[in-house]
Amino acid sequence: MALTGNAKRRVMRVEGRLSEDPESQPDIDINTPSPARMYDFYLGGTHNYPADRAAAKRALSKVPDGREVARANRRFLVSSVDYLARNGIDQYIDIGAGIPTSPNVREMARSIIPHARITYVDNDPDVVAQNRELLAGLDDGVKAIYGDIRYPLNMAYDPALRDAIDFSRPVAVLFVAVLHFLTNGDDPYNSVSVFTHRMAPGSHVAISHITSDGTIPGVISTIRQAYAHASAPAVFRLRKEIEVLFNGLDLVRPGLVEVSEWRAGNRTQENSPALRFLAGVGRKRINKPSEGGPAE
Ligand SMILES: C[S@@+](CC[C@H](N)C(=O)[O-])C[C@H]1O[C@@H](n2cnc3c(N)ncnc32)[C@H](O)[C@@H]1O
Repeated sequence: MALTGNAKRRVMRVEGRLSEDPESQPDIDINTPSPARMYDFYLGGTHNYPADRAAAKRALSKVPDGREVARANRRFLVSSVDYLARNGIDQYIDIGAGIPTSPNVREMARSIIPHARITYVDNDPDVVAQNRELLAGLDDGVKAIYGDIRYPLNMAYDPALRDAIDFSRPVAVLFVAVLHFLTNGDDPYNSVSVFTHRMAPGSHVAISHITSDGTIPGVISTIRQAYAHASAPAVFRLRKEIEVLFNGLDLVRPGLVEVSEWRAGNRTQENSPALRFLAGVGRKRINKPSEGGPAE
């Protein structure tokens, strides 16, 4: 469904700004594949439409273990929040939050810190609507807002986020499976660094990202094609390009690893996945490098 004149004007009005007002967000478009709903399909969810399913099946056609890769990414998200909450982080910004599923950031963080504050941000109005519906009636420590990480300055300094998050205390900013929907022209490096500058020492950033290192060219081209007509493209990056996203942060153990291997304990993967996906958590230093190492 093409955007109508009104919707286009609304998109322009909210471009880059957070919004808690459903009236000021773009319309939900079910005819253009949405990365959020395609991912919901990979995870076995039901909030997806024929256009999403057709594009997702195209991606899966060359990645037989694609659903398992999506589940491994989700496990990374939940494990990283478990790690962060156990290290005392009680405020979370989940950027590119996705269609709600369980377990999720709120459930995991609050199972360890009951007063944890969580702000979900996404630029897909369908995601925001679904999260709002789920969160309706809960306390005001958890909210879902519309925002686009391609405009990080507007996002990081927006009053809606300032009201939810105290940036003078450690915060965790989650960029899980979202930065590969930004082109180099969108500057994902700047998106992360705006937040790393804004956050207090002791804050953390979690990132997962698809990588071209180790992914065979046929898989890369099929996935690119599957997302070519979606609302955002799939952008593969080299490992060394993903490492740069953690600039200024200390990577906590086990470092930047295959998403299924991040603090996986005894869980082992028998075969290398067709689609390689890296994940890591970085911590903003409290001390000078000579005075202290990364969090454990
Ligand atoms: C693959 S889903 C990941 C969901 C969740 N983070 C996870 O890993 O389980 C990617 C999400 O990023 C969102 N997204 C894509 N581009 C974005 C942007 N520029 N700003 C904010 N969210 C974006 C999509 O709408 C989608 O909900």
